Amino acid sequence: MPEHHRLAQTLSWPHLVALGVGAIVGTGILTLIGVGAGKAGPAVILSFAIAGVICACAALAYAEVATMIPASGSAYTYSYVVFGELIAWMIGVALILEYTLVVSAVAVGWSGYAAPLLHEYLNYPMSLAQGPELGGIINIPAIFIIVVVAGLLIAGTRESATLNAILVVIKLLALALFLVVAFGVFNSAHFEPFMAQGFAKHTVIGADGKATEVGVMAAAAIIFFAFYGFDAIATAAEEAKNPGRDLAIGIVGSMAVCVLIYMAIAAAAIGAVPYTGFANSPEPLALILREIGQPWAAKILAVSAVVALPTVILAFFYGQSRIFFTIARDGLLPSSLARVSSRGSPVRITVFTAVVTSAFAGIIPLDRIAALANAGTLAAFTAVCAAMLVLRRREPDRERKFRTPLPWVVGLGGILGCVYLFLNLPWQTQKFFVIAQIIGLLIYMAYSGRLAEKARGAAA
Ligand code: ALA
Repeated sequence: MPEHHRLAQTLSWPHLVALGVGAIVGTGILTLIGVGAGKAGPAVILSFAIAGVICACAALAYAEVATMIPASGSAYTYSYVVFGELIAWMIGVALILEYTLVVSAVAVGWSGYAAPLLHEYLNYPMSLAQGPELGGIINIPAIFIIVVVAGLLIAGTRESATLNAILVVIKLLALALFLVVAFGVFNSAHFEPFMAQGFAKHTVIGADGKATEVGVMAAAAIIFFAFYGFDAIATAAEEAKNPGRDLAIGIVGSMAVCVLIYMAIAAAAIGAVPYTGFANSPEPLALILREIGQPWAAKILAVSAVVALPTVILAFFYGQSRIFFTIARDGLLPSSLARVSSRGSPVRITVFTAVVTSAFAGIIPLDRIAALANAGTLAAFTAVCAAMLVLRRREPDRERKFRTPLPWVVGLGGILGCVYLFLNLPWQTQKFFVIAQIIGLLIYMAYSGRLAEKARGAAA
């Protein structure tokens, strides 16, 4: 969640769209497109559309609730206000999972583009750019970028609107370059058969003997990663010139822009090279450009990714500390965790997050990390959609700066869509998510619930 007090007081919709696109475009489109193509074949284009529409429903609900309830703590805070402490705790666990794993996932995505450059220019060993499951030892570049971003945060760095705008332009120009170059060699024959792996999620055994879940929906459940990050716009609501109109255009606009860009990139990628040629690559878009004989474009794209991706890491890393803060403020975690340094940065939380995210990023493959991040996000989005509907019922006359159009269609669509995507995640991810929630509940029963009660007792 970027600092809203740094933004101009008069944001109108173009600013909001830029803010949204800046926080959203990242590893999802740059790297997970390869994972999605492996699961869905050319129909990954459809996976993008489905995930985008579901995410847009959640985004609208998010905007309505965010403008009613002070934003710090996001879905955790909304759940606390609407559903009470226990559900809020569960959503807090889901959000911590989300933010932690997005940091790890984007770091792995960054490494995917940085490592080949390091290899080419510094002879960097590729075995130190991937975890053991993919034949490497450890992903050092991913750990490196996490440490760098953690250092920046500890030094007091925050996202600036100007830097964000520059990086948005770099990201979009790189993607535009990809579109122009890849569409130049478009071959529609690559789209046959379109739904190469069917629609519904099902398990296949690959040549390596490993079981993988495939299908358009299995891809959508992973590709969903590419769409979130828009809390940046929802939390900028207070600065919007005309929150009702501008926020709606900002959110729907940035989601629509991303859906269109992503579908166009997917079409250009598949048109340029048969999907099997880039499925599961750590740097699919650069690989495609090299395959079609444009290594210069591949290099520009890779350098742009290396330059622009760290801001996505920064945004989620920062969001993580906000969540911890808010949970600790409610008494559910020790307040010492939320202690800030003289520079105003939460050093303990940042170091803790850096250690945990590095451990994941160093060892675990991207698709698994992203899947678990999605599970946390889907739980949080479900809660936000439900909170929006409950508040409509409970307090129909309360002032709403932003009103979701067709609230019941959007709210229920968001809830059902998120649940459906969750069911299409790999079953192992679902299992991990449930285990994380059970551990969370045990901590709540043994520790946090009592801690909060004590804090309330002291306050009374
Ligand atoms: N949507 C963000 C990304 O794709 C998290 O990197």
